[in-house]
Amino acid sequence: MSKIFDALRKAEMKKSGSPRNKGQVRVRREHGEESESHFLRGVDKNFRRGLMTLRNSIDSELRSSDHRVIMFTSAIPGEGKTTISAFLARMLALGEADRVLLVDCAVSDPEIHTLFGLDNDKGILDYLSGTAPLEEIIRTVDEGVLDIVTMGPRRGADITQPMFNSEKMSTFIKATREMYDYVLIDTSAILDAPETPIIGSYATGTVMVVQSGKTKREVIKRAMLTIEKLGGKFLGTVLNRKKYYIPEFIYRRV
Ligand SMILES: Nc1ncnc2c1ncn2[C@@H]1O[C@H](COP(=O)(O)OP(=O)(O)OP(=O)(O)O)[C@@H](O)[C@H]1O
Ligand SMILES: [Mg+2]
Repeated sequence: MSKIFDALRKAEMKKSGSPRNKGQVRVRREHGEESESHFLRGVDKNFRRGLMTLRNSIDSELRSSDHRVIMFTSAIPGEGKTTISAFLARMLALGEADRVLLVDCAVSDPEIHTLFGLDNDKGILDYLSGTAPLEEIIRTVDEGVLDIVTMGPRRGADITQPMFNSEKMSTFIKATREMYDYVLIDTSAILDAPETPIIGSYATGTVMVVQSGKTKREVIKRAMLTIEKLGGKFLGTVLNRKKYYIPEFIYRRV
């Protein structure tokens, strides 16, 4: 996908270590700073700073909430949802106390498995269709600090919308929000994917990724309204400049 991710993958491959067993309590790393700089080596420092700001903004928006299930979306495709959700997940997971799950619900173009070098044999669609339990779809990467649920194979063209609008989806969210400090959900662009606002209605909040200078204000507003109409909570917008960093989190300014 991006040069940024290639840099991360290379840095990881240089390091040895064994992954955390599933279900095992996370071992708090004593040298968080060192780990973080190792994993995020090669990533522009402004990009990292942007992620920190994003994290702080999310935390501040959700300070009164017990859960952090955050959906990432955009109005139109290609604005940077996957890049931002994946990097934020990784950065949070490298933090001292955070248990983090990244879930791929980008039906139109699932990419999380590719980014993390995983297969896509089993994922959330399998869970939602009742063919796999939760423990079978959660994978652990980054030396055991980050958990991932990929999309899984799409076995039917039009089944995804009812699958996400289901009791199973509700159970998935309830279970994972208890297990993790952050559940980040990557999705497809709202105006292209009818299941995205539905997923947003299960999340604690939605962050809209906007590529700077690309998407018209009216289009972004329409996308936000679609989320809110289904009961989703709109948290704010990330302005992605696509220059190796995510500079700003602008709350409700679009
Ligand atoms: N901040 C950034 N700096 C550099 N490249 C970026 C940045 N954000 C995104 N990109 C690049 O832009 C392209 C699209 O990004 P990404 O796949 O994250 O968008 P998306 O919103 O998930 O797209 P889709 O709607 O297809 O799922 C990718 O090649 C990605 O590497
Ligand atoms: Mg994507």
